[in-house]
Amino acid sequence: MKFELTEEHLMIQKAARDFAQNELLPGVIERDNEQRFPAEQIKQMGELGFLGMMVDPKYGGSGLDTISYVLAMEEISKVDASASVVMSVNNSLVCWGLEKFGTEEQKEKYLKPLASGQIIGAFCLSEPEAGSDATSQKTTAIDKGDHYLLNGTKNWITNGSTASVYLVMAQTDVEAGHKGINCLIVEKDQEGFVVGKKEDKLGIRGSDTHSLMFQDVKVPKENRIGEEGFGFKFAMKVLSGGRVGIASQALGIASGAYELALKYSKERKTFGKEIGKHQAIAFKLADMATEIDAARLLCIKAAWMKDNGQNFDRAGAQAKLFASSVAMKTTVEAVQIHGGYGFVKEYHVERLMRDAKITQIYEGTSEIQKIVISRDILRD
Ligand code: CAA
Repeated sequence: MKFELTEEHLMIQKAARDFAQNELLPGVIERDNEQRFPAEQIKQMGELGFLGMMVDPKYGGSGLDTISYVLAMEEISKVDASASVVMSVNNSLVCWGLEKFGTEEQKEKYLKPLASGQIIGAFCLSEPEAGSDATSQKTTAIDKGDHYLLNGTKNWITNGSTASVYLVMAQTDVEAGHKGINCLIVEKDQEGFVVGKKEDKLGIRGSDTHSLMFQDVKVPKENRIGEEGFGFKFAMKVLSGGRVGIASQALGIASGAYELALKYSKERKTFGKEIGKHQAIAFKLADMATEIDAARLLCIKAAWMKDNGQNFDRAGAQAKLFASSVAMKTTVEAVQIHGGYGFVKEYHVERLMRDAKITQIYEGTSEIQKIVISRDILRD
């Protein structure tokens, strides 16, 4: 076992760090205030290969491993979690799903522009009454021979208005339960597809989260991913990879807050010395550093298992469960270390604290991760 990153890993980590510091940091506070999507930066991320990191270069991707993806996600998320959620959804839910389960035609038509960052994608599973209980899909895709007729509403969809391609889960055969769910590829300009209201969120305010409405949208049969009824398993499989992405996002939010708190602890003086020299602050920093290292190890382990063809469902869930809790704890403590300054926007830590919360909710809440982990433990 080696605890060393390769030259290539270090290069990617540095490229992501430089990009985040030079291109994402300027304006991140304003984008958060104004709920403005980082359109220009996402375009640059596409050009740099950050939106299709693990996709085979023959489909427009960067052909890198999942460890590289974790490292890049951490660096981008240290600065702008609104940008990194776009990156995570596009890489692990949309591109990975299409590459692994799509037909050659779907890969040519959709994966190529998605992986090369010309367009971005969205993953549409959640509904007003189907969040954690994801099998209870109310959206329907009625089989009409050569096409499906799609009707229903999706909620809290990341990249809701900015995506061009949407992977939509819908129930075709109600009697068959989760085995009657399909995943359909829907294009934005299809008749009957309406982008609904934009959510006004606590955190990741630069990302665009919308409800979506489908009213008699005709989706050709060739846009179904996998066999008839594979949609729910497709969603579960891609979410396993997605959870590694969100775990890395949580890790980045935590390490971003920690780095700011550490810097501040060396600069700010009280009672005649730097605050880091007071045990009350030093111990907080020790806890933060230890928990962040542990979270990083879990993320890299899950990524390594994925790259080596092992079942990583439990590892991804553990990484997300732990890293999101570390993100929450670390950011709260980073605000505390900054005192009054931490409570104002200029110092970034209050934004990181607000951004941290969603990592315990999306792509499966912490409670759902415990279901996935405990079922796996009890099965052993
Ligand atoms: N891989 C393959 N198949 C899987 C699987 C996996 N990881 N997990 C479950 N399945 C299969 C099961 O084997 C079962 O199939 P069989 O009946 O053939 O055995 C089927 O799926 C149903 O599984 P369960 O019986 O376990 O279903 P359940 O109703 O108990 O639910 C759950 C399981 C884990 C709770 C699931 O509903 C779940 O993950 N819920 C959370 C949903 C979620 O993460 N939503 C996130 C929305 S996307 C998002 O947030 C993106 C964004 O914008 C950032």
